[in-house]
Amino acid sequence: MITEKLQKAMNEQIGAELWSANLYLSMSLHVARVGYTGMAHWLKKQWEEENSHAYQMADYLVSRDGKAVVDKVDVVPVDFGTPLEVFEQVYSHECRVTALISNLLDLAIAEKDKVTEEFLRGFIREQAEEEATALGIVGRLKLAGTTGLLVVDQQLGAR
Ligand SMILES: [Fe+2]
Ligand SMILES: [Fe+2]
Repeated sequence: MITEKLQKAMNEQIGAELWSANLYLSMSLHVARVGYTGMAHWLKKQWEEENSHAYQMADYLVSRDGKAVVDKVDVVPVDFGTPLEVFEQVYSHECRVTALISNLLDLAIAEKDKVTEEFLRGFIREQAEEEATALGIVGRLKLAGTTGLLVVDQQLGAR
């Protein structure tokens, strides 16, 4: 059993994960238009991952006798600039998501729901990895400059 308050917040997070998925799909299409197939592949994987986060959360709610809903998802941006600007936006987006999950975890603790707390800790750990990965790519893109972009593109294509 999960409290109404926590269920509502979890459903909002499901919406946020679906929005993230759409954001990455839009970014993937953006870089694909320019011809960076490796980056497009990496971002498409990210799209799949965010969809799976939404599903894991919905599945978790159901397992706790809760009600998971698929709500309206806001539109996402279309243009993201240069590859470096794209990945800087990936990084800042993941930092925002970390804050969202962190608030959700605070709520689970306040509601004394240890099971949900445990469930969310897995996501918090994953956020640390997501931030580090995005930051690493931003760093490599800065080092690469214009000439090395295709090398980084190739590396990201191997994900
Ligand atoms: Fe996520
Ligand atoms: Fe993410």
